[in-house]
Amino acid sequence: MLIPAKSLLVKARAKKYAVPAFNINNLETLQAVMSAAVSMKSPVIIQTSEGAIEYAGMDYLIALVRVAAQTKLPIVLHLDHGKDLKLIKRAIDSGYTSVMFDGSSEAYADNVRNTKLVVKWARTKKISVEAEIGVLAGIEDKVSVVERGATMTDPKQALEFATKTECDSLAVAIGTSHGAFKFAEKNHPHLDLPRLEAIAQLVKIPIVLHGASGVREDVLKIAVHYGAKLGEARGILDQDIKAAIFRGVAKVNIDTDLRLAFTAGVREAVADSPSVIDPRKLLMPARLLMTEIAKQKMKLFGSAGKA
Ligand code: G3H
Ligand code: 13P
Ligand code: ZN
Repeated sequence: MLIPAKSLLVKARAKKYAVPAFNINNLETLQAVMSAAVSMKSPVIIQTSEGAIEYAGMDYLIALVRVAAQTKLPIVLHLDHGKDLKLIKRAIDSGYTSVMFDGSSEAYADNVRNTKLVVKWARTKKISVEAEIGVLAGIEDKVSVVERGATMTDPKQALEFATKTECDSLAVAIGTSHGAFKFAEKNHPHLDLPRLEAIAQLVKIPIVLHGASGVREDVLKIAVHYGAKLGEARGILDQDIKAAIFRGVAKVNIDTDLRLAFTAGVREAVADSPSVIDPRKLLMPARLLMTEIAKQKMKLFGSAGKA
């Protein structure tokens, strides 16, 4: 059943678990996520980025998710990191049940103004809006620790932003970043949990954590064994994810961990079966590995059994 994100996330925050939000671009990833949700009895958010829409087409993605949502489980179709207002409007009018307006790289006043506009559009269709305040900086951005602190979410500004825009959930920057290379050093002090706590004390709507992949070593090992060159890939520790959920995070975004599983599965299948040309045989192991990863996330986030 396709539903808006708001009530799911409000309940999750109150009960101290988080709903997993997986990025999908294709049929196999969607099937893996759905198969995990069914077996774990978990609500799930299926999200597509602007890049996913460019790759697969919005109509294809909507059609796939509508079929996937023919179940009693609560499913959300969410636009991830919407920046293009025209595309956001199209998603709202075409059947998405939740959209993100990402104005995190805009000036504060523009972010407020544009978020309010998206909230106004979304209200007409009774769908939910996620917004973002603060900037997620990756190690590839080469910012110092001091600079990184300056781009993180300021708790008072977060409260003002949430109040002014009336968004339904708020993505914050507390030390995570997108992709497989989150920290330069192994012993980097991971998330700024005191900052999250301060935000959560003021902002009562559900908080969203982007860039939350764990970059699991076992999956990385398979990918690297079969030829992937992934250098010092490093993700967020499971214990930090749990601590963030305990402090008010109700939606956790995962893309990289499924990408890694897909890559590992495909590489292994291609390498081990040089005479196979059937795409189904080459993609099946990747789909299974992605299902396993999605299930682990549901357990970790506490969403298993909550559908
Ligand atoms: O937050 C970004 C997601 O991982 C989506 O990435 O824009 O390459 O689809 P993408
Ligand atoms: P990861 O790159 O850590 O999976 O984060 C994904 C994300 O935040 C999508 O919006
Ligand atoms: Zn993100």
